Amino acid sequence: MGFVDLHSHWLPGVDDGVRTEQEGLALLAALAQAGFSQVIATPHMRPGMFDNDAARLTAAYEAMQPAVRAAAGMPEVGLACEHFLTDVTLERILGGAGLPYPGGRAVLVELHAEIFPPRLEGTFFELSRRKIRPVLAHPERYSAVWDDAEILAPLVDAGGCLLLDVAALTGKYGRRARAAAEHLVDEGFYQAACSDAHRPDDVKDVRAGIAKLQARAGREEADFLLSEGPRAILAGTA
Ligand SMILES: [Fe+2]
Repeated sequence: MGFVDLHSHWLPGVDDGVRTEQEGLALLAALAQAGFSQVIATPHMRPGMFDNDAARLTAAYEAMQPAVRAAAGMPEVGLACEHFLTDVTLERILGGAGLPYPGGRAVLVELHAEIFPPRLEGTFFELSRRKIRPVLAHPERYSAVWDDAEILAPLVDAGGCLLLDVAALTGKYGRRARAAAEHLVDEGFYQAACSDAHRPDDVKDVRAGIAKLQARAGREEADFLLSEGPRAILAGTA
């Protein structure tokens, strides 16, 4: 059983991820080489910055399928998106116009780097109540978490799953994000780990991050976060 990547930007030309189909295929191949047998594309949906909607992203994904099928060494693929959580994107998710993970049991959300939105716990609870588990992207990168990691506890209690970007463990996002990631790994806060890769070249940091995770948490826990954890999120059993 290979790893499952719940967060990467291999769909070309829709956000700050890869720019061409060739680059997208190269990113998928590199992730497969690093051990991922399933890789979900999660381009940004952030009104005003990345004006993607579900229809546009689905069309871009479908357009790339022939190239993925024709290439050698590809992982299994799927489509979701990284919803920047605002009233607009929340309304889309609740109204069925978001782009949840395949199967519709969970949805990837990211927050502003410095400000957690008001009523976040209530939002997570509402999503969980509707059987759409909120998956919080890279909690280790938010400054509110650097100040007090316990701010995440009520979100987890409200049904949220925390998704580690493994490259944070290498120091790629700075000292504080790395310290937060180490703390959250040590405390067992994460449900899964991902690449959040935007370029083929990012995969060297992903490989280094996986090695750090294995050294810190042990092989068994690292395997859980990269395999069973993300599979449980997709299956709705997390
Ligand atoms: Fe991302």
